[in-house]
Amino acid sequence: MDYGWLMFLFIALLIDYPIAYALFVTDISVPEIVDFRDNVTLSCSYDMRGHTLNSVKWYKDHEEFFRYSPLTSPIYMTFDVAGLQVLEGKYVCNESSCRLDLSLQGAKSTGLYKCEVSGDAPHFKLADKADNMTVAALPQNDPLIESFNSMYRMEEYLKATCISDFSSLPTRLTWYINGEQPLLGELYPTTDTSLAAHDYVLRRQRLQVQFFLQGQRFFQAGKILELKCVAEIENYPELRREKTLSASLSQYDNFNNQMPLRHANANSGSAQRSILCGRTSLISAFLAAILLIHCLRRPS
Ligand SMILES: *[C@@H]1O[C@H](CO)[C@@H](O)[C@H](O)[C@H]1NC(C)=O
Ligand SMILES: *[C@@H]1O[C@H](CO)[C@@H](O)[C@H](O)[C@H]1NC(C)=O
Ligand SMILES: *[C@@H]1O[C@H](CO)[C@@H](O)[C@H](O)[C@H]1NC(C)=O
Repeated sequence: MDYGWLMFLFIALLIDYPIAYALFVTDISVPEIVDFRDNVTLSCSYDMRGHTLNSVKWYKDHEEFFRYSPLTSPIYMTFDVAGLQVLEGKYVCNESSCRLDLSLQGAKSTGLYKCEVSGDAPHFKLADKADNMTVAALPQNDPLIESFNSMYRMEEYLKATCISDFSSLPTRLTWYINGEQPLLGELYPTTDTSLAAHDYVLRRQRLQVQFFLQGQRFFQAGKILELKCVAEIENYPELRREKTLSASLSQYDNFNNQMPLRHANANSGSAQRSILCGRTSLISAFLAAILLIHCLRRPS
């Protein structure tokens, strides 16, 4: 028996095995959710561990759309796949990473994107990583707050509407009045307008809030009324958008009818005017009192 030959095989296997299994994709970067109007960048990095890189292939739902093969010519190739277009000249790959830019084509761009790396002969080892990308019509603007004024008086009735931007994903609106959510009875039906565009059905939510400016939540608020509307999309907290507006809130006063105590907007002319009016009426009251005392004292 030729033990020398067996020993050689055994050592060869020992050396060979770790190398043969070491090749792997270390990282893949595919956006989780994007707007169909955006271009996206995909990238992947890999550790060849001594193997020579044979090719990097990108697939969408198992269809190859891009190939980098540094050992052949041409080294870059792109293939037509429904839902995407590799942007001309916007790709760069080497023995450790591969990055490319795509333009999208709406809902059909949604799918599983995979980066697959292969080593060369004799093992042709393969390694891959994949991630899902959802392509939707995302809100482009913060929600709108309609019919909200810059000044309110206590006891007044307030009505305001929040409107979300159009989106193909369901949006949830939430109101905050001085940091607190309104009561259920103060919220009025969400109207849902829809229109079809770019193979999406776009929806816009409306949520009206109505309440009297009275009670604890305004008492402690330091004469400022802050209304915030938050628009959220389920499962994608990063798409949260919000809008905040504030108004000055003046005390309701029976005696002087309306005497503002403090204003959120310090340099507003009308605020100064009403402070002046407040003083004027104070002086008038003083004069009236003197006149009254004078009249009472007048001997008849
Ligand atoms: C996407 O890339 C193309 C080609 O570079 C460019 O013409 C287009 O303006 C880009 N679109 C966006 C939204 O950046
Ligand atoms: C490969 O490309 C990336 C980014 O394009 C770069 O950071 C890296 O240094 C390159 N690696 C080599 C070995 O050239
Ligand atoms: C991609 O989405 C499909 C279908 O929702 C799911 O079965 C699969 O596990 C996801 N793959 C990854 C890598 O997240």
